[in-house]
Order: sequence, then structure tokens, then C-alpha cells
Amino acid sequence: MKCHNRAQYDAHAEFYHRKRRSKTSGYWNEFVDWPAVRALLRGETRGRRVLDLGCGTGILCGRFRGAASVTGVDNSAAMLAIARRGNPSARFVLADAARTGLASGDFDTVCAALLPHYFRDLRPLFTEAARLLRPGGVFVFSMHHPFGEITDCKRGRITGPYFSRIRYMWNMGEMKMASYHHTMEDIAQTLHRCGFAVEQLLEPRPLPSSRRHDPKSYAAASRYPSFCAVKARKIPVWNADWGKPGTRAGNCRNPSASAGRAAKTGAFSRRGHI
Ligand SMILES: C[S@@+](CC[C@H](N)C(=O)[O-])C[C@H]1O[C@@H](n2cnc3c(N)ncnc32)[C@H](O)[C@@H]1O
Repeated sequence: MKCHNRAQYDAHAEFYHRKRRSKTSGYWNEFVDWPAVRALLRGETRGRRVLDLGCGTGILCGRFRGAASVTGVDNSAAMLAIARRGNPSARFVLADAARTGLASGDFDTVCAALLPHYFRDLRPLFTEAARLLRPGGVFVFSMHHPFGEITDCKRGRITGPYFSRIRYMWNMGEMKMASYHHTMEDIAQTLHRCGFAVEQLLEPRPLPSSRRHDPKSYAAASRYPSFCAVKARKIPVWNADWGKPGTRAGNCRNPSASAGRAAKTGAFSRRGHI
């Protein structure tokens, strides 16, 4: 199962890129997720060394205008090939976002749009983001909303238990994706454990002007949260051991650890929407 998503992105990269750029099939990215990520990145890209984890086909890399440098990391070679095509001045690295091999403290801003839900355990990803940031740098990410993950927002039905941290399958057009449910508490606790202070948390609703592009998605996205977007700052005094078990709030149970156990006990499907 480890490489399931990478195989999907590798096999369908051109499809994904076309979909992502369309105002209708890319509706959720463009009119729900991106406005929130953009708001959180305001003032954090101009003149900054920006790293885009899970950069996909590089669409956001092209939007960090005025950045001192842009680096994109993705574990799909096919997605990166498209990213390179559209962003000749950016640097791209084929790597797991949780083990990039990049130098510590080399970035002012780390962005990870719609990436963390692919991680069973958020800790390795958040620890890597903290390692790569300079003290005081910002981490902006978005992911499937914990409530949206267990809700069929088009039919208005709850589809899964909130507190069972399980793997779920969903469809993105012809792509069959696997993701992991995390509770809001998991997300907040893991950020804290990895040395971040949360500055903002958004539950994005669609831009009103986007209704004309896809009225059904507009209605669905207006009823329930599909994504959450977070801006967290690396605390100035940071310890590289904090992501490890038993450190920083060490007597607090690792909130993501039970995800793996729960994944073995069952999975639920979710109607895909991005
Ligand atoms: C939904 S796309 C988002 C792309 C981009 N952030 C955007 O908003 O346009 C998720 C991307 O994350 C990448 N990805 C998933 N798991 C990853 C991992 N463990 N390491 C690096 N990239 C990963 C996928 O290959 C895909 O390109």
C-alpha cells in the first residue's frame, strides 16, 4: 500500500494537471483550497526562500511571485516532469516530503497544500517541515478536513466514525486515492510536539464568485468543511528531538500512532471531490 498514491500520480499526471487547471473539475482546489492557502501565505513569500512540499505539477510554485527562491518536492517523477516544464527557474527535488534530504534551516516558508492527509502519521512530515525552516519560519498547509473526511457533503450524510483513525479510499476522476483520517486534536497536538505554534486555522468556504463555475460543488462546499488550512510558526528555540516519541509533551500519547492500528481494522469509502 506504501506506494499506492505515488503509482496513481505517476500514471495519471497529465490527467491530474488538466483537471487541476480546469475551473470546473479543479473547482475544489482553485476556489476552496487555494484562496485559504493564499490568504495564509500573504506576506510570507515575497523575498523569502519558499519550499513547496507535495508540489505536484508545480501550479502553486508558479504563484509564489517575488520569492527569493522556489523549491518544489514531490515523490512522483511524472508530476515533477510537468512542474519543471512550467517553472524553469524553480528547483525541483524527487523525494518523500518527510525525508527530503535538503539542508536544515534553509527555508523561510514551507507550503504543503493538500498533502498531509496522505500521511498515516503526521509526525514525520511536520518534523521535516520544522527541520527545514529557519527559527521563526512559517509552515502553511492544507488537508482534508477531519469532519469532511467522514461526511458525504453532497448527500449530507455522516459516512464514518470520527474517532477511529482509519485509512479511507476516495476517487479523483479516474484516480483511486488512499488517505488517512486525523482528528483536529491529532493535527494540533502533532504541530505542538514538532515545535510549531499555530497562528491561524481556516475552514475554507468557496469564493462567492465561483458559484457560476460549478453550482453543485459550490452548494456542497458551502454546507460542510472540505479542507482545513493552517499557518504555524516554528518556535524560535527548537529542538531536533521534538518529533521523536517521548519528547515535548512526552507524557501525551502520540495522537497519530493509532492510525496504523485502526487502518488494519477497517476502511470506509468517501465520495471523491477533488
Ligand atoms: C493533491 S496533490 C497537490 C499538489 C499541489 N500541492 C497543489 O496544490 O496543486 C498532492 C501531491 O502530493 C504528492 N505526494 C503525496 N504523498 C507524497 C509524499 N509522501 N512525498 C512527496 N510528495 C507526495 C503527490 O505526488 C501529489 O503531487
